[in-house]
Amino acid sequence: MSNLLLKIILSLNIVKNIIFNRYSKYPKYVIDFEKKLADKFSSKYALSFSNGTQAFEASLLSLGLEKGSKILLSKLTFTSTCITILKNGFQPVYLDFDKNLKMILDEDILKKDISAIVVTHAFGYTNETYNVKKIKELKPKVKIIADCSHAHGAKFNNESILNFADISFMSLQGAKAISAGEGGIIFTNSKDLLNTMIQLSHPSRQLIDKENLYLNIPGFSKFGKSRIHPIGAILASNDLENLNRKNTLLKLKLKLIYSLLKNNKYLYLPTIDVENTGGYHYGIPFFIKKVYFKNEYKKIPIKKYNYLKYDRYHEFSNPENYYKFIVSNDKLIEDLKIESNTNDIRDELYFFDLDWLKKIKIHNLRKEISDFSSFLENQ
Ligand SMILES: Cc1ncc(COP(=O)(O)O)c(C=O)c1O
Repeated sequence: MSNLLLKIILSLNIVKNIIFNRYSKYPKYVIDFEKKLADKFSSKYALSFSNGTQAFEASLLSLGLEKGSKILLSKLTFTSTCITILKNGFQPVYLDFDKNLKMILDEDILKKDISAIVVTHAFGYTNETYNVKKIKELKPKVKIIADCSHAHGAKFNNESILNFADISFMSLQGAKAISAGEGGIIFTNSKDLLNTMIQLSHPSRQLIDKENLYLNIPGFSKFGKSRIHPIGAILASNDLENLNRKNTLLKLKLKLIYSLLKNNKYLYLPTIDVENTGGYHYGIPFFIKKVYFKNEYKKIPIKKYNYLKYDRYHEFSNPENYYKFIVSNDKLIEDLKIESNTNDIRDELYFFDLDWLKKIKIHNLRKEISDFSSFLENQ
């Protein structure tokens, strides 16, 4: 179906639901949306949330961990994930990652009392799945939460990326491949975890195959309230219909970029199987030393890594320091004391901008990337 036609149907759908006042709590189309996502990504259950951060918070709390429990995460994890760990009183253990965007798993760390691990399939690359498999082998009891916010529709060796972890979640924020404007969703095959998450943050929602003791207490849920906006679910449904087409096209472009740059010795493209990617939030990552960017390259929009390097701040090192930080005066992050670290590979991380990549035609892409390659060679 053409994109325009889909947009018209989507708009009519929104108007119809507004006319009939079907945009409160859980109209049927929200439940259908969750089922559609669960089916599409081969998960037993899906539960929608107001955003990805809330989806992660409910996932984390559903594990029932003691305060102070250690949670492993990569230094390439999104900031709000790290904050959610800290503000709930857990201890983050930050791991370095390599140029293939994979956490460097230290067996000594794994031998310690780690309670859970958060993996992030950053920028739609799913190499962390190798780690997930290894952790499952070495520590089968440790729970794994996978952040698939950047990897909508990605598979790993033909299996849905969501099925390797105990709980997977996605942000459905406006810039994501499936976008509700603001929204989030979790996926799990465990009915118990799902029911716990409903009780934590979905007041007045029936549990699966179980009586909900709190169903008739308006507004009550054990932790907070976090429903998706129903209109957001309609918007996201539209993106879901288009996801395969968008991912297929981006895979073609990704393959071309890899083939054109594979012999360029000035930059490093993470080693991947392109078929094991999807979603592609933010852009296509590559590593390059600043010296090779002596002159700015203006022909292609190239972005630099600009996420907060939270692991380098004392304030983000444990829940106590974080608590002091949030109740202190309005200190700007820039005012915090950054731990010196001269060897941070994030300083070499750049991206081919995703919006540019979506727009550019294949034959133009070939020329632009070839020019970029020659530019680097001639530095
Ligand atoms: C990898 C990743 N995880 C989590 C989040 C948080 O999701 P949200 O913004 O929907 O709360 C984001 C948002 O951009 C993200 O990129």
